[in-house]
Parts: sequence; C-alpha cells; structure tokens
Amino acid sequence: MKTIGIFVGSLRKASYTKSIARYIVGQSSDVFCYEIIDIGELPLYNQDFDDIGPAPDSYERFRKSVDRLDGVLFITPEYNRSVPAVLKNALDVGSRPYGHNVWSGKPGAIISASPGNIGAFGANHHLRQSLVFLNVLTLQQPEAYLAHIANSVGEDSEIHDPKLEEYIRNFLISFKEWVDRF
Ligand SMILES: Cc1cc2nc3c(=O)[nH]c(=O)nc-3n(C[C@H](O)[C@H](O)[C@H](O)COP(=O)(O)O)c2cc1C
Repeated sequence: MKTIGIFVGSLRKASYTKSIARYIVGQSSDVFCYEIIDIGELPLYNQDFDDIGPAPDSYERFRKSVDRLDGVLFITPEYNRSVPAVLKNALDVGSRPYGHNVWSGKPGAIISASPGNIGAFGANHHLRQSLVFLNVLTLQQPEAYLAHIANSVGEDSEIHDPKLEEYIRNFLISFKEWVDRF
C-alpha cells in the first residue's frame, strides 16, 4: 500500500481547500491511501532550533511523518499572490537540518484553489519553485487551478459539484500514475 500525505495551506475552519482535502481522503483505496498531515501546530522555523537546539518535539514528529510517505499532495489557497505562510513554514521545517531534507525524492502534486478567477495560479507556481529546490518530483500535467471554488462547496463545507468531483477524480488518476512511476 502507498501512503500519500496531504498538506493544506489553510487553517480556516470552513476552508475550501480543507474541503477538497477531505474529499480526496474519501477517494482512498486499499492500495493508495491519502491522509492529511497537520501543519498548523509547527512553530515558526528558527534556524537556531537546529544549529543550537533544542528543536521542538513537533518538528521531529513532523519530519518523521513526512519521511515515511510515498508521495506528497499540496492543496493550497493563495495569499497575496503567493503560498500561505503556514505551508511555507512546513516546507522549511521539513527541509532542515541541512542535509536532512525529508521532502527529497518524493513524487508530488499541487492543487490550488480560490474563490477568484485565476485559481490561485500565483501560489501554485511559487510553491512549484520551492519544490524544485526541495527535489520534490512534481506532476507537471495536468495542472490544477480551481477557480470560483466558493460555488462548489456547500454551507456544510463539503463539495457539492459533480463536475468538480469528476475533475478531481481524473486528476487523482494522473497523480497515481505519476507516483507509481517511482
Ligand atoms: C491574507 C489573505 C490574502 C489573500 N490573497 C489572495 C490572493 O492573492 N489571491 C486570491 O485568489 N485570494 C486571496 N485571498 C482570498 C482567499 O482565496 C480566500 O480567503 C480563500 O477562501 C482562502 O482559502 P481557504 O478557504 O482554503 O481558507 C486572500 C485571503 C487572505 C486571508
């Protein structure tokens, strides 16, 4: 069985990107299982934690939980045309101490979403830039920029849009094929 970690770039209770993440967890099978990895409890990265110590226990737990994954899926909104700080912080924590980058070599993919017109394109591509440096082997096609996401999620914070569900399921087929190549 392969385990894929999902990292969500929003801490908001009624978050659209969390709704997408929950839908994807529901698409897990016996051979390909998705789980959401919590990044909200990680203290802001300070290099002294690793150079002088001690590092927070949550760093060690997070690094171990990423290390054991077979793939990584990032689902993120856009904050000011870039990656929300909580997600960038998680990337930074996992990348250190120097020489112990737990992201390295993992197959990955990005889904970005926004209530606006351009589907968080800016966040998607800023994230992609960091993933190049972190040596995450990121799926290139299909790209997933989910625009007008507020139209697809109900007041119960669940997706109620068959077209979006179908789009996501097709994206996941491509992602599984990508992960299975490694
Ligand atoms: C600090 C901040 C900056 C934002 N900047 C952008 C932006 O650059 N582009 C965009 O499409 N939406 C932007 N938004 C709106 C978010 O897309 C919207 O709040 C969305 O619901 C956040 O995702 P979530 O529902 O998963 O929490 C911003 C929201 C916040 C709080």
